[in-house]
Amino acid sequence: MEFYIFSILLIFNSTFYTCSQKRNKSDPGTCCPPVARRQNSIPVHYVTGTHYEVGYSVGRTFGTIIKQFISAYEPLQSELLKMFALPEGRKIYEESLKSTEQYFPQYVIELKGMADGADVPFHELFLMALDDTLPKNLNTSSKDKGPVGCTSFIINNLNAQLLGHTEDAMSETVNNYYIISAHVVPGEDESGGLFAARDEKFEALAYAGHLPGYASGHNHHGLVFSINTIFVSKPLRGKIPREFITRALLASKANLTEIVDVLTNKGIGTADGFNVNFAFLDVPVKSRVFYTAEVTPKAEDNRSEVYLADFGIGRNSLHTNRLLHLKYPELNEAAYGSSVSRESRYRQMTKNRDATSLEDMIEILGNKEDDPWPIFSDKATARVSTIHLGIFDFIGKTWTMWTNDPINNAPLLQLPLTFRNFVNPIGNKVATNKVDAIGTIDEPDN
Ligand SMILES: *[C@@H]1O[C@H](CO)[C@@H](O)[C@H](O)[C@H]1NC(C)=O
Ligand SMILES: *[C@@H]1O[C@H](CO)[C@@H](O)[C@H](O)[C@H]1NC(C)=O
Ligand SMILES: *[C@@H]1O[C@H](CO)[C@@H](O)[C@H](O)[C@H]1NC(C)=O
Ligand SMILES: *[C@@H]1O[C@H](CO)[C@@H](O)[C@H](O)[C@H]1NC(C)=O
Repeated sequence: MEFYIFSILLIFNSTFYTCSQKRNKSDPGTCCPPVARRQNSIPVHYVTGTHYEVGYSVGRTFGTIIKQFISAYEPLQSELLKMFALPEGRKIYEESLKSTEQYFPQYVIELKGMADGADVPFHELFLMALDDTLPKNLNTSSKDKGPVGCTSFIINNLNAQLLGHTEDAMSETVNNYYIISAHVVPGEDESGGLFAARDEKFEALAYAGHLPGYASGHNHHGLVFSINTIFVSKPLRGKIPREFITRALLASKANLTEIVDVLTNKGIGTADGFNVNFAFLDVPVKSRVFYTAEVTPKAEDNRSEVYLADFGIGRNSLHTNRLLHLKYPELNEAAYGSSVSRESRYRQMTKNRDATSLEDMIEILGNKEDDPWPIFSDKATARVSTIHLGIFDFIGKTWTMWTNDPINNAPLLQLPLTFRNFVNPIGNKVATNKVDAIGTIDEPDN
């Protein structure tokens, strides 16, 4: 039995890892030990530069991961590239790129930098960002990607103020993500969009080949957020792919008006659906409010539809990959079924007892019951795996991360939410770049 499991893992490995020398059992000298499918590793990349330089540096550093991911990513290889080769598919691509360049030139430049740094074609990255908008507007059916998505869970009371987020992604994505810790100083030719390019300091998880911001992250203004995909059946052509809008969130102040403005994206709007869960770091514990926003396209108007719900002290929230408030047609695919299953497990676990602590959060987000759609999915054979769990602690001001089931594994990494890495130890005056110290955000606030 053990051998049987072992060999399945090896077969799995071979699709994701190419080892120059295959393991040869009768000759231990020619070593290539089997590598676990799920590695216990989270690369963190620290970088300062213009949008292009930051993108380039990420691309150059993670080029191998990006290339490996692109060639393994089935929707791109089996559908999107073929559609891009059709005249109508190309037109849909160009319409969307034109709008994105008009509203968010700095982030298109950042993605171009990433493509150049990784030495991959830009259109492959933009196609992955465009996602379902291409097949759905070609009226072609696209394959159900399986229960991809995420779970965001908020606990808000005076002792625990937590935003926990699992990333559930297609198996190709296992190990193919990284944390970007960036200070962006926009170049002179990187402005002109809807939001003036500004200095940005953020830390965010990024899927290989995608912009940071479409997962979870936080910035030096104290905005902390996580994103869940909403799978709408009618994404709109000519509008903004959602990861450019959530990339813009990484630049946003911790200001509700500004955040809603970014999401609403007046003048054009999102092409597809998503959900943002967020809160602000630098407010007193007793007045902390968490928010969840649902964002969908709006066919009859040039903006996104945004619904905002708030969760004050004493109120928790769980959001998965389906709409709870807005009405917009959604795909009835595995992601929807899996959302219903995860929500139902949550309700069952909290029926007689509210979740109030970090332990409760870990117990819920690490739950593996409910085959085939558990909250934490780590079966070797599952099409979709939970590849990461991150918990933002607003009182302890930390971001703690697991790559494996958090009930049986210790976390791998804890980052401060306070951007100490960008603070100049010898003060501002002699700084040669524009990195400025961040004020006294460490003051106890309760
Ligand atoms: C494995 O190693 C043995 C001993 O060196 C050798 O005879 C055999 O050809 C090797 N097998 C492969 C598949 O390389
Ligand atoms: C797809 O279907 C819609 C609605 O029926 C139609 O308006 C549109 O022209 C079609 N697009 C293509 C590329 O066939
Ligand atoms: C939030 O931003 C809006 C729009 O930019 C501005 O009018 C408002 O004063 C800001 N609020 C706070 C509390 O800074
Ligand atoms: C949306 O914008 C497009 C392009 O600028 C314009 O043609 C159209 O009239 C606008 N629609 C609405 C409802 O404002």
